[in-house]
Amino acid sequence: MARPHIEPFCDRDVPFKPMKLKGFGGGMHYKMLSLDTDTGACTMTVKLDGGYAQKPGFSWSELELLVIEGELQVGDKTVGKGHYFFVPAGHAMPAWRSAQGCLLLMMYNTGEPSLVESDTHHPDARTDRYHETDSYNDIPWALGNVTKPNVASGCLIKLLNFNDRSHALTFLYCMTPHFWQDNISYHDCAEESYHLWGDSWMMQFGTVPTGGYFWRPAYINHGAFASELGCIALGRTDSKLFNHFHYNPWSTVEENQARAAARTAERDPLLYRWIVQHGHNHPHGPEDFEDTMQRIGGSRKYRSVQPDKNKPFAHSHGQHGQHHHGDDKAHDHDH
Ligand SMILES: [Fe+2]
Repeated sequence: MARPHIEPFCDRDVPFKPMKLKGFGGGMHYKMLSLDTDTGACTMTVKLDGGYAQKPGFSWSELELLVIEGELQVGDKTVGKGHYFFVPAGHAMPAWRSAQGCLLLMMYNTGEPSLVESDTHHPDARTDRYHETDSYNDIPWALGNVTKPNVASGCLIKLLNFNDRSHALTFLYCMTPHFWQDNISYHDCAEESYHLWGDSWMMQFGTVPTGGYFWRPAYINHGAFASELGCIALGRTDSKLFNHFHYNPWSTVEENQARAAARTAERDPLLYRWIVQHGHNHPHGPEDFEDTMQRIGGSRKYRSVQPDKNKPFAHSHGQHGQHHHGDDKAHDHDH
């Protein structure tokens, strides 16, 4: 199974444990933030003691790394707070040292933490995907509109990595002081965040402080949002990010899934029919709760023709019904 829902959680509430896995140097300590127990993929806060030293080597897993505090020497280069590395599986890193010690966020994406001593890359490593940046100094903040509809103004991002196959994202985000956004979100992807500094607040899970963390599977409601003093955080998604916004705090994961599918059926009807309906000419997409929920002034569907809820696959044939075929075609109700 994938990683479970972890929220609310703050790494300041748990102690470091010594890292004992083969290959890593002595003086490495970790806090496990989330773990996929099938693959070993995980996110950890890691503390390296002053004087830490690690031999050159590669991991069997893809690794993302952000320096939270302190300085780390990677080969000849000294990097500090905010430095980000994307290291493909099998890509050999030079020796590490930390004279004064440092705090890192380490994300092993495809397998458990590992370090194989080597000064050359594995022959199958996708070395072209390696990149690093001083994210605090070398990237300007941009509007949070990497996806539409987008977050409220005052939530800004720095894009750190984009997976061109899955559209998974890694980014820094900040909320300006007194940021607020009054709607509720869910996504078709898992979402992860580590608060590097500051606080933010969500209606469902309360205040996320410095060191606050969540791994949130898809379709779980979160928001409204607010931040009193502002915050800076590292965020990730495991696939394409789309903001499903709404104002129904009671909708369930199943209702959110159905609504997401209904929106796919509306937006990409041919794709939806091919994948889900297998060519079967049935007019009924899944239910979008916003189309049928009771509300002041009446729901969208109640304003046209009220469906008969007692009949399976009951639906409106009114002009706003969700039909995925030309109106000249007969409906096929054979299953
Ligand atoms: Fe979100």
